Amino acid sequence: MPVVAVVGAQWGDEGKGKVVDLYARHADVVARWSGGANAGHTLVVGDERIVLHLLPSGALHPQATIVLGQGMVIDPDALLAEIDALDARGGFRLDRLVVSERAHVVLPHHVALDRLRERGTSALGTTRRGIGPAYEDRVGRRGVRMGDLLRPERLAARIDAAIAWWRPMLEAAGEPLPDRDAVLERCASWAKRLGPYVGDASHLLAEAIAADRRVLLEGAQGTMLDVDAGSYPYVTSASVGAAGIPTGLGIAPLRPDRIVGVCKAYTTRVGAGPMPTELDEPLGSRLREAGGEYGATTGRPRRCGWLDVPVLRRAVRVNGLDAFAVTKLDVLTGLDPLRLCVAYEWDGQRLEEPPFDDLDRVRPVYETLPGWHEPLGACRRLDELPAAARRYLERIGELVGRPVTLVGVGAERDDVLGTTDPFTSANRASTRRSGDAL
Ligand code: GDP
Ligand code: IMO
Ligand code: MG
Repeated sequence: MPVVAVVGAQWGDEGKGKVVDLYARHADVVARWSGGANAGHTLVVGDERIVLHLLPSGALHPQATIVLGQGMVIDPDALLAEIDALDARGGFRLDRLVVSERAHVVLPHHVALDRLRERGTSALGTTRRGIGPAYEDRVGRRGVRMGDLLRPERLAARIDAAIAWWRPMLEAAGEPLPDRDAVLERCASWAKRLGPYVGDASHLLAEAIAADRRVLLEGAQGTMLDVDAGSYPYVTSASVGAAGIPTGLGIAPLRPDRIVGVCKAYTTRVGAGPMPTELDEPLGSRLREAGGEYGATTGRPRRCGWLDVPVLRRAVRVNGLDAFAVTKLDVLTGLDPLRLCVAYEWDGQRLEEPPFDDLDRVRPVYETLPGWHEPLGACRRLDELPAAARRYLERIGELVGRPVTLVGVGAERDDVLGTTDPFTSANRASTRRSGDAL
């Protein structure tokens, strides 16, 4: 049975949560491999809107084991708040939750440092959830892992080392130092509540794969926020692309049988950094309001622009994407004509992908396509879409060289058309080669 991965193909917020929730109906295991509570993955179930920051978006499917992988950085308070909210709602099987013992803990000083830096002139527009400093402590070999919470005799020394490292920076900024006893007390209460779920996720996943279980892997953020592949330094601090899967889950490098890239039918970005297709007013606001483009984690307005194909080409190449899920096609209703950025011009050259640097200096090359005026919310089949919407999707498929196998036409979990069981289609080898259209 195949392993299927879902990866963000833009700057995050592509609608990964919705796609994973849909696919998770068919999964035995759903695992996240990167990021932390900087993510905000929205599920809309009837009138209910649920935003998950740490729990994988398969959490509402009681048959699935839910895994938080070792590549994640976990704020235990945020995780407990999420667990409590889902518990109160019902339908969430806490006994199916596994948190990797190797995932790092986001501690109070990480959040303090993130906020401190964001006050300075080199602010990146982070989510201020302590993500960057937590990953820095991980590679700096002074981090605290979830499994450490259960070993109090070693924990105090680790916390002391981390505080000692950051002390000069905090003091220079006039910030209070974390109170180590208070931190240890919080760690003890986290251990008590989360201890039962902390375990060896690496083995669990290896066994699930060996036993031919249906394993669904959920990416957070998006390729352009990947610390290596993205628009550095305006990125997050993790390997959020498919290349982060083995290290983020503690499994041998594997080629998932299917890697689905999720993109919106246009582009958005929150935080600072270049965005070549960003729209001027009033069109930018029009798209923002039509799409409800406000951050699921921070509530910040998202910057909006035309679909950027060079960004998608980067995502195809570095993630090895097999297919695309295109979300929010319905939001483009009434925008006529539509523009598609098919390449960039930079320094007298035509670029098919973002350059090493200088993304702020490229000029988008646009193609113009006719728009449509009909609402799409009720469409459930490709042939029910207006011809111009079909042509728009077709053109995206041509330009990225991959089939579009799922299309979002509304926020609700069933507002889609296309292939909703990725495991079945991954089994049909021919679809991988020739590309199955919807
Ligand atoms: P994620 O971080 O990739 O999971 O995406 P977010 O949840 O941050 O943002 C995506 C937003 O778009 C959420 O508010 C979703 O409810 C919404 N959404 C997802 N797919 C569609 C769609 O096809 N149409 C519309 N109108 N909204 C969608
Ligand atoms: P999901 O999983 C969109 C952005 C922040 C900022 C940069 C660094 O919901 O798609 P960080 O707090 O990670 O240090 O911030 O990355 N960012 C996201 N943007 N969606 C996300 O997650 C994001 N996670 C981080 O806005 O620009
Ligand atoms: Mg999001």
